[in-house]
Amino acid sequence: MSAWAKHQIFEKNSILLLVGILLMVSIGGLVEIVPLFYLKSTIEKVEGMRPYSPLELAGRNIYIREGCYLCHSQMVRPMRDELERYGKYSLAAESMYDHPFQWGSKRTGPDLARVGGKYSDDWHRDHLINPRSVVPESIMPGYPFLMTAKLDARGIADHLKANSIVGVPYTDEMIEKAAADLAIQANPDADGVDEFMSRYPKAVVRDFDGNPKDLTEMDALVAYLQMLGTLVDFSIYDDKANLR
Ligand code: HEC
Repeated sequence: MSAWAKHQIFEKNSILLLVGILLMVSIGGLVEIVPLFYLKSTIEKVEGMRPYSPLELAGRNIYIREGCYLCHSQMVRPMRDELERYGKYSLAAESMYDHPFQWGSKRTGPDLARVGGKYSDDWHRDHLINPRSVVPESIMPGYPFLMTAKLDARGIADHLKANSIVGVPYTDEMIEKAAADLAIQANPDADGVDEFMSRYPKAVVRDFDGNPKDLTEMDALVAYLQMLGTLVDFSIYDDKANLR
């Protein structure tokens, strides 16, 4: 029997053809899917990533509460125009401690994945109070109440704990000291800054809102914005991983 004749058996019998298709597709599917079950993680490790400090996490919660993600993405895509505008493209590891992730799906405003260190705290404060004061053509809404809203830090240890349950490596010590660490990060004169820095390397300790008297929601949100994209030192990856 020629190959053509053999193939006719399938072509003339739709049930047999269907079974043949299912067999082929399931082999292909298994080959692709089964290896993933044996991988511990599909995220490539990068140096420098650490869990958010309590103040950054509180700021992140405000970011989510205010719906900033509706206008801002946090993922630089590996395309030339994006790289030129925002810098290195985002790595999976950079959002591995994000629950939920803030990649976003719409850019009314620019991507924020690398906004940390781009502006001063004062700029962020002015911009968040009234965006038009620094960017006259801006259509972003103002959030002046962040300046007067005292940061509610009561639940912060629970926030760390909840994150640790879904896999963020917060230690017992970090959870226990969460409330204290939160206050320390906004007060460079506080006791325990060194200890705090050893728990959260590269964290910025500053009075973010320009008002040393109160710990406000502005402190938390600016602390969060100022750390975005600053943890990974890309210069050490340049030759190794061929990242642009
Ligand atoms: C209605 C859409 C909208 C919302 C909601 C919004 N933004 Fe914006 N954002 C913009 C636009 C448009 C710009 C660009 C103009 C400007 O700089 O104000 C911008 C700019 C920014 C910038 C400057 C980025 C850069 O690289 O120049 C930051 C930081 C920022 N927004 C933070 C926030 C935060 C934090 C929130 C939530 C509290 C927020 N935005 C909510 C639209 C929005």
